[in-house]
Amino acid sequence: MILVFGGAGYIGSHMLQLLRDSGEPHLVFDNLEQGHEPALQGSPLFRGDLRNPDDLRRVFAENPQIDVVMHFAAYIAVGESVREPGKYFKNNTSAVVDLLDAMQEAGVSKFVFSSTAAVFGEPQYVPIDEAHPKNPTSPYGDSKLFVERILEAYDTAHGLKSVCLRYFNAAGADPETRIGEDHHPETHLIPVAILAAMGKMPGLKIFGTDYDTPDGTCVRDYIHVLDLAQAHLLAVRHLRESGDSRRYNLGNGQGFSVKQVIDTVERVSGLPVPREEGPRRAGDPARLIAASDRVRADWGWSPKFPELETIVQHAWNWHRTRPEGYASPASETVGAER
Ligand code: UFG
Repeated sequence: MILVFGGAGYIGSHMLQLLRDSGEPHLVFDNLEQGHEPALQGSPLFRGDLRNPDDLRRVFAENPQIDVVMHFAAYIAVGESVREPGKYFKNNTSAVVDLLDAMQEAGVSKFVFSSTAAVFGEPQYVPIDEAHPKNPTSPYGDSKLFVERILEAYDTAHGLKSVCLRYFNAAGADPETRIGEDHHPETHLIPVAILAAMGKMPGLKIFGTDYDTPDGTCVRDYIHVLDLAQAHLLAVRHLRESGDSRRYNLGNGQGFSVKQVIDTVERVSGLPVPREEGPRRAGDPARLIAASDRVRADWGWSPKFPELETIVQHAWNWHRTRPEGYASPASETVGAER
């Protein structure tokens, strides 16, 4: 059985969908602080707090079938991590040490960790492969890189095997709009552009137009959330076959500028995206593009939805049918157009 920390969140809930579709037994551990109960879609919930060691011990004691842990329960806002580093180091790093110790105690030795492109910091070259130097530029990036290093130490000391998946820009939603992205506040480019087009958020501010990129705006590698989830399933398979610890970068290997994303949102939605050009946001690298050749070669991972147009279409379908996110009535959910 797979224990999924943060299963009620954006990426976690898409993971649950894949686990349900694959008939994979699982249990969600979530405190529903940022996650949404309707996002569980019937997956069983253990309500607990990652920062409470008693909850951690209890979930393993009550569920001895658990053999793998997936960890999606993290704070993710780079800017906030600069202002409130303690919150990030406590939740994203030290609570994970408690979790690893609880696993240890329960004899569970397989861990799939949600890492991030932020572990690399300002890129020295793109596409960024796994060997690229790790030099985070925010407490958020540090909080994730520390866990990667702690996992190496736990492997050496205790034989705990882990797969760290470094996501580039997660985006998109379930094509059938049962689940999607619903952050409060929303800061990610694609949902912000969609919500601005729908009049649900004030106009989009473009953070910097003077970068050394073709149109002056930042370039990112957007990857469909279900393609990320698929990589986790391959990671579980690998670990269950007594595989060694691995680290992989996950992206499509193609970069799109902020302006290209806005154009795509306008094309897909048929609505104008009100926007204004503003100064750079601190800590934003000009270009982040993944080299994911290693995970493709090792596990045959291949994104099912690599096109930006499809990623934006799925995000648009979700927001269109759920204009208030999970607060919208579930009856409004409809099938995808594609
Ligand atoms: N952007 C805007 N206006 C907005 C929002 C975003 O111009 O209102 C720009 C950003 O400056 C950036 C791009 O759109 O250039 C993408 O921004 P996001 O906030 O959507 O994503 P980030 O690339 O900043 O962050 C993502 C993940 C983080 C992770 C980071 C790794 O969301 O969790 O990649 O660097 F840390």
